[in-house]
Amino acid sequence: METATKHTKENKQALKNEVVVDIDHISKSFGNNEVLKDISLKLKRGENVVILGKSGQGKSVTIQCIVGLLIPDKGIVKVFGDDVGEMDADELKELRTKVGFLFQGGALYDSMTVRDNLEFPLTRVLKLTDQAEIDKRIEDVLDGVGLLDAIDKMPSDLSGGMRKRAGLARTMIVRPEIMLYDEPTTGLDPITSREISELILEMQKKHKTSSIIITHDMECAKITADRVVIMNEGTYIAEGSFDELKNSEDTLVRSFFNETT
Ligand SMILES: Nc1ncnc2c1ncn2[C@@H]1O[C@H](COP(=O)(O)OP(=O)(O)OP(=O)(O)O)[C@@H](O)[C@H]1O
Ligand SMILES: [Mg+2]
Repeated sequence: METATKHTKENKQALKNEVVVDIDHISKSFGNNEVLKDISLKLKRGENVVILGKSGQGKSVTIQCIVGLLIPDKGIVKVFGDDVGEMDADELKELRTKVGFLFQGGALYDSMTVRDNLEFPLTRVLKLTDQAEIDKRIEDVLDGVGLLDAIDKMPSDLSGGMRKRAGLARTMIVRPEIMLYDEPTTGLDPITSREISELILEMQKKHKTSSIIITHDMECAKITADRVVIMNEGTYIAEGSFDELKNSEDTLVRSFFNETT
């Protein structure tokens, strides 16, 4: 009995330390534009890592490498231990059911209602067929992002913030084990931004989701981050907790944090 308890504890610890995304010394150039220069980052199960960095530093390129939309010139990206660069089309499809990706633009299908936008990944990706279950999942996720009233609206009838939340709902509805958020709060008012940040946190707590969050929004970073990495000129220049980096001795590191946080 005692041994069983011990094993369970050890297993829990092992799960907690499991690296779900392993970015191992990757480099990526576009022509003469050397964007990523030997980047390494490990995301552990259940962890929220925030990437901060000025515009054009390769943050979006990094997360596109995780889902195989871009392949690094050098280095390896592994997700759940599997090399993304070696995956065939079917394996990539499978990967993208486990890794939810909120694009910087938060794209929705303009010709579909909010409900249909959400039904799409359930029927096409998860291949669900039980309509009652589909409806319940759509209603639950919309309730979570505060958009239940907009269920039958077209994307063009939503405000920017509502569209962003609908995009978030569409990514979350498949309950991916890993979430990649590319600027989830950009362009939103402070209240909606905070709600989205809290939603990201809730997703982590409720579903043990592991996430990478790219943001320029310090409040979002503060709310969501277990760990922050700062990217500058194609490399990571610092890593630590939000407070550690905010109070860093290094003025360049400190300069990423503004007065209001
Ligand atoms: N598919 C692509 N083809 C060519 N160049 C690209 C491509 N994707 C990104 N780049 C270039 O890579 C660099 C980094 O782009 P990236 O989108 O990763 O920046 P970012 O750090 O996400 O910036 P932002 O904060 O503005 O979103 C830019 O110079 C960009 O022009
Ligand atoms: Mg970007």
